[in-house]
Amino acid sequence: MRAPIPPSSPAFAGDGRLDTPTTEEIMNDYLADLFSLDGRTAVVTGGSSGIGRGIATALARAGATTVIVARGEERIARTVADLQDAGCRAAGVVGDLGSRDGIRTLAEAAVEPFGEPDILVNSAGINIRPPFAEITEDDWDATMTVNALAPFLLGQRYATGMAERGYGRLIHISSQQAHRAFVSSGVYGASKGAVESLMRSEAEAWGGSGVTSNTLVPGFVLTPLNARLQEDPAQIAALAERTMIGRNGLPEDFAAAAVFLAGAGSAYITGHSLFVDGGLSVH
Ligand SMILES: NC(=O)c1ccc[n+]([C@@H]2O[C@H](COP(=O)([O-])OP(=O)(O)OC[C@H]3O[C@@H](n4cnc5c(N)ncnc54)[C@H](OP(=O)(O)O)[C@@H]3O)[C@@H](O)[C@H]2O)c1
Repeated sequence: MRAPIPPSSPAFAGDGRLDTPTTEEIMNDYLADLFSLDGRTAVVTGGSSGIGRGIATALARAGATTVIVARGEERIARTVADLQDAGCRAAGVVGDLGSRDGIRTLAEAAVEPFGEPDILVNSAGINIRPPFAEITEDDWDATMTVNALAPFLLGQRYATGMAERGYGRLIHISSQQAHRAFVSSGVYGASKGAVESLMRSEAEAWGGSGVTSNTLVPGFVLTPLNARLQEDPAQIAALAERTMIGRNGLPEDFAAAAVFLAGAGSAYITGHSLFVDGGLSVH
């Protein structure tokens, strides 16, 4: 069905017929203005596995040129190849966010393939879960460095340029543990609490410059991060039962939320924690 002629002046096709857009074309343009990432560049830490891989795939398929950052070369190569096979523009950078020098080195290396990013997703994370009384200072440092210091330093490094260009999206991944004790929170919970506070500080710092900072809060997601917990089917089933939806999360559950927060349509949303947890946190 042809759409009614819009109020703006109609264009004419080469043969003189009125070339009015179809309803589908109008809808596509509208959705593109809100959500398309065409022309944007994204850096996704931890983009080679789990939630980060799900988000990197979503951003790339929504049009963003995407750089995947992690330590393991093989998983990076596989992810980049899958994205390229799907027609996306993607590259991988190997590096380690486990030290200050590593973070700084990676921050520079990640801009080499395609230039400064418009979108930063901090998904790289570790959860080593020692019993609370046995947590060492090294455990604290290791967890805080990857989970909280890397998001801080990378965000600071990239957001200045984002603000100068008038567009930037900082997206963090926190955890239920930022809000409540849950499955041996330990130092991991403290690091995720730091991430959500960092988000608020970034939202304040960059407000008005076109740069936003938001957080996705997963529930229990079936990824390699919690492979050990997944060996206990009863615990997995119990966690699924605690959600409103009735199942645990999957990496692809983050696709729509990530594209939404990365796109132009979310310009007035900043400092927000969006729970993508099947309703787990409603209890
Ligand atoms: N799965 C869940 O239930 C859950 C729940 C709440 C929050 N989260 C959060 O979601 C994020 C993603 O977790 P996930 O479950 O998707 O985990 P995952 O599958 O284990 O992926 C973690 C990613 O981070 C990378 N990474 C880890 N340490 C790194 C380092 N030192 N330097 C660079 N990259 C590093 C890993 O690649 P390499 O190992 O090759 O470096 C991998 O790509 C994390 O921040 C996690 O805390 C997960």
